[in-house]
Amino acid sequence: QREKDQQLKTLYELLEAATTYYEDQLRTNDTRSDAVNYLKSRGLSGQAAKAFSIGFAPSGWDNLLTHLAGNDPEKAKRLKEAGLLIHNEDRDSRYDRFRNRIMFPIRDQRGRTIAFGGRVLGDDKPKYLNSPETPTFHKSRELYGLYEARKHNSKLDKLIIVEGYMDVVGLAQYGIHYAVATLGTATTDQHLERLFKIVPEIIFCFDGDNAGREAAIRALKTTMPVIEDGKEARFLFLPDGEDPDSLVRQEGEIAFSERLAKAQPLSEFFFKSYSENADLDSMDGRARFSTDVLPAINSMRPSLLQQMMLDRICELTNLSLEQLQTTVNFHEAITP
Ligand code: CTP
Ligand code: MN
Ligand code: MN
Ligand code: MN
Ligand code: MN
Repeated sequence: QREKDQQLKTLYELLEAATTYYEDQLRTNDTRSDAVNYLKSRGLSGQAAKAFSIGFAPSGWDNLLTHLAGNDPEKAKRLKEAGLLIHNEDRDSRYDRFRNRIMFPIRDQRGRTIAFGGRVLGDDKPKYLNSPETPTFHKSRELYGLYEARKHNSKLDKLIIVEGYMDVVGLAQYGIHYAVATLGTATTDQHLERLFKIVPEIIFCFDGDNAGREAAIRALKTTMPVIEDGKEARFLFLPDGEDPDSLVRQEGEIAFSERLAKAQPLSEFFFKSYSENADLDSMDGRARFSTDVLPAINSMRPSLLQQMMLDRICELTNLSLEQLQTTVNFHEAITP
């Protein structure tokens, strides 16, 4: 165990040193101008870059390797464990994972760097490269920007979940300091459990495109089993082609905050999306609608919201609560 603790400590130290290194490169590297110009072209302020410790990984195969490990093979091994180095076993070659990218350090709740996201400077693919799973980084649990949001305000009352690094940074630059991003994965129940321990309200705000709308439906299904009395989830849908970063830059903090204030409550989004293609005017349509919605309602914890949503289903279908209960095996969820 002691050995394991020591090994973890080394990883955190390397990740911290890498954070400093990438930040320094954005300020001093001879080849930094492309990176600086790229960030300028995106409207990123120096203050925002600093608040998120944004950096630059120069091109070249072994800048970080040489800087942090020199010729020490033990250190190189640790760098690989930290996710910063790739080891090609066949050719026995080692090289930096992140090259010629804008670097976003991902921090844990204590502010320690646990991983990185790296963005290309232009339109190359893959656009983003993330650290792999490592002993310090479990992406289904971590949220980009959570440390920074809590550092800015220790008494948060709500958090926004967005898709990307630039959304978190862009919103913060425009005064909305309470956005977090999942790291190239869907929102998990672990993310939600963690966030609901911190704030009573979560607003999902994904990109205004098909992927974003599909992500919202998935988030709805993941949130329903997690929600309990006293907690609230809402959904903000953006105009086509926009994401939080592009929109806040266009219309500013006040307009964006007004959108947030009008975000759809979970129940509203739920009924809208489930009744969209339902025919509630026919008996057959209402029966089918009931069959569609009940599993989701059934997945919820016993709560006032669940009861009210059930009441709404009764209204929409002209079924009584008893009738709903007998058709679907559903009794457990609503009797405490
Ligand atoms: N993502 C990823 N790998 C990719 C593309 C995206 O991990 N190849 C993740 C990143 O976390 C990214 C998020 O998904 O921030 C959202 O992707 P997308 O909307 O395509 O990018 P933006 O964040 O809008 O990036 P940008 O504004 O820099 O183009
Ligand atoms: Mn501010
Ligand atoms: Mn997108
Ligand atoms: Mn974007
Ligand atoms: Mn986007």
